[in-house]
Amino acid sequence: MACWEDLSDWYDKKQGESGDLWHRALIDPVLQILVGDCRGKEILDLGCGNGYLARRFAREGARVTAVDSSLRMIKNAQAHDPGNTLKISYIHSDANRLDMIPDASFDLVFANMSLMDIEDAEGAVREVSRVLKGGGGRFVASISHPCFDNGSNSGWVIEKVAFEPRRVYRKIRAYRKPFSEDIPWRIEKNVRKFTQSFHRPLSWYARILSSNGLVITKLEEPEPTEEFLEKEEDSSGFIEVPLHLVFEAIKL
Ligand SMILES: C[S@@+](CC[C@H](N)C(=O)[O-])C[C@H]1O[C@@H](n2cnc3c(N)ncnc32)[C@H](O)[C@@H]1O
Repeated sequence: MACWEDLSDWYDKKQGESGDLWHRALIDPVLQILVGDCRGKEILDLGCGNGYLARRFAREGARVTAVDSSLRMIKNAQAHDPGNTLKISYIHSDANRLDMIPDASFDLVFANMSLMDIEDAEGAVREVSRVLKGGGGRFVASISHPCFDNGSNSGWVIEKVAFEPRRVYRKIRAYRKPFSEDIPWRIEKNVRKFTQSFHRPLSWYARILSSNGLVITKLEEPEPTEEFLEKEEDSSGFIEVPLHLVFEAIKL
């Protein structure tokens, strides 16, 4: 998407080599557990961004292919390992058109916080299923939690009652129907740029996975780590309400 293309230099700095606070201390620890031991495995990183996870899994011994629709993201990812010592194959492509990859190529496909940014996510899941090996190939993805985070239609509500501890609620509306929205990112103090994101209800994900032969086997809702609670301003709501979902689905 052009919007991620515009943001790719900023996003590269933000994620660096270990992920920003939200990735490092909230989402990635759960994704990493679901990915598990990847030594000797063929892995596809779908919507790889600056590729820090692709590089992590390559260092852990996986053979990694990384796809992104932003050419600038791919170039920035490659610049982290100029001699390509990690032997990562980068592909500049839409996730829903992976014609250059043969069927049944991968043991694992993972998509970290990219599926809800992919316009044709149904086409992407179809491709994930096609390129996964049957009989146990795994798809692991993290997404914004469809039930608790659908952009500007959701938010925290803080209730202060005299002599009572304050209560934090999560409000949400417009859940049932898919919609797209421009998501603001503050890239400098007074500069905002936008990327497009696509809300789909939870049942949509379950339907699309199962209709492509992928059976959900794990579903996790990342809890904030101590680092996250310490460093993220006003993070108390996260203790009770998850804003992310991480799942594993297996190709039978
Ligand atoms: C929020 S970023 C996540 C990047 C990376 N996975 C991470 O965890 O840092 C979303 C990524 O999805 C990519 N993306 C968006 N639409 C895509 C599509 N149709 N096909 C492939 N990648 C796409 C964007 O370019 C961006 O790099």
